[in-house]
Amino acid sequence: MVNTTSVNTLMAALTDTGRDSRRGGYSRPVYSAAELELREWFAAEAARRGLAVETDRNGILWAWWDLPGSGTGTGPSAPERRGALVTGSHLDSVPGGGAFDGPLGVASALAAVDILQARENDGTLLRNRALAVAVFPEEEGSRFGVACLGSRLLAGAIDPRKALSLRDADGNTFADVSRANGLDPDLMGRDDAALGLIGDFVELHVEQGRGLNTEEFTDSAGRGPAVAVGGSVLGHGRWRFTISGQGNHAGTTLMADRSDPMVAAAQLIVAVRQTAAAQAGARATVGRLEPVPGGTNVIASRVDLWLDVRHPDDAVTAALVEKIHGQAQKIAAFEGCSVQLTEESLSGTVHFDPALQRSLEQSATRTVPDAPVLATGAGHDAGVLAARVPTGMLFVRNPSGISHSPEEYVEDWDADTGVLALADVLQDLL
Ligand code: GLV
Ligand code: MN
Ligand code: MN
Repeated sequence: MVNTTSVNTLMAALTDTGRDSRRGGYSRPVYSAAELELREWFAAEAARRGLAVETDRNGILWAWWDLPGSGTGTGPSAPERRGALVTGSHLDSVPGGGAFDGPLGVASALAAVDILQARENDGTLLRNRALAVAVFPEEEGSRFGVACLGSRLLAGAIDPRKALSLRDADGNTFADVSRANGLDPDLMGRDDAALGLIGDFVELHVEQGRGLNTEEFTDSAGRGPAVAVGGSVLGHGRWRFTISGQGNHAGTTLMADRSDPMVAAAQLIVAVRQTAAAQAGARATVGRLEPVPGGTNVIASRVDLWLDVRHPDDAVTAALVEKIHGQAQKIAAFEGCSVQLTEESLSGTVHFDPALQRSLEQSATRTVPDAPVLATGAGHDAGVLAARVPTGMLFVRNPSGISHSPEEYVEDWDADTGVLALADVLQDLL
């Protein structure tokens, strides 16, 4: 007899972890106390289901389900793991993020395992393929700046030397933080052995925009379908502008004598908005800005400002960043400042594996007959891994249409429906 746990019960266990009283919502940066607590929660829940939990050399958690009949509790043997079906998501969050971005995919994977184990017990699931649930660290890049750092390392999509030298806001390197969390930095990076085990990766995720609430998909009551199948991930990148001026005294420096990088930064932010608004399909954001030294009565000597740009056509993204860079140089020069641009990460637009997408559509529409195919503007580990293995995604309706914010929301019924769809998808692929 298998006890199935609803995804909403699983999610309810996480409500107190990493709450951010200042920003609202949750702040769960990778390897913070909150994220570590969630990783422990995951390991305990996976063990409760008889899954063998392992941490690989990039800090990715894997929970392996024994093949039928073996029941060793150590997971399938190495040869049995080849071509495994993998599902999962991430547990870290942006600063002041919502409850669902990441954890919903992890909790749904565990709840889907419950359903599959119950079906196996009653003889309605036959499988000859290994299944694992994976949890990827630093998906948001909110601590070390590069999104999907765990999956990028695994897939060889980032030079490990670059990854290990990334620093958090307190100056700690990713190498040091990884070491403090039991990893050996010398062993981190592309892991063809681990990648070779993944036959298909399916990630369930909260929908992060209004995609399922648009008129195209909603019924007469204005309600959209509970689930969509992922079609593509919008190309995106992150850049840092460092604007340098003359630090000085707020009271003694005449307005005409200033080289104030904050003034240049303010104009640059407006230019970013105007430039992106003039380009169909583009999104550009400055969501983070750090004046140095950051005193009320101090004209800043430097401002670091981070730019996030996204567009379906990677060439347009590149052209937009070039244009914004040109504007930044003019703005900075006018203010007597200089500017330096650094690319921190770049991922092209990804179209999910067509055969896997068709399979997801066929399986998911058994539970949600009107499940559409949806493109996402958000980045995902499934997008990074798509360069190396077939990947696909399911999105669960977000009635608020808001994400990366405490207002991100999923209704219980939709979350349950998402798990049923995921269980059907996994069963068909097993
Ligand atoms: C992560 O959710 C991103 O799209 O930046
Ligand atoms: Mn996410
Ligand atoms: Mn996110």
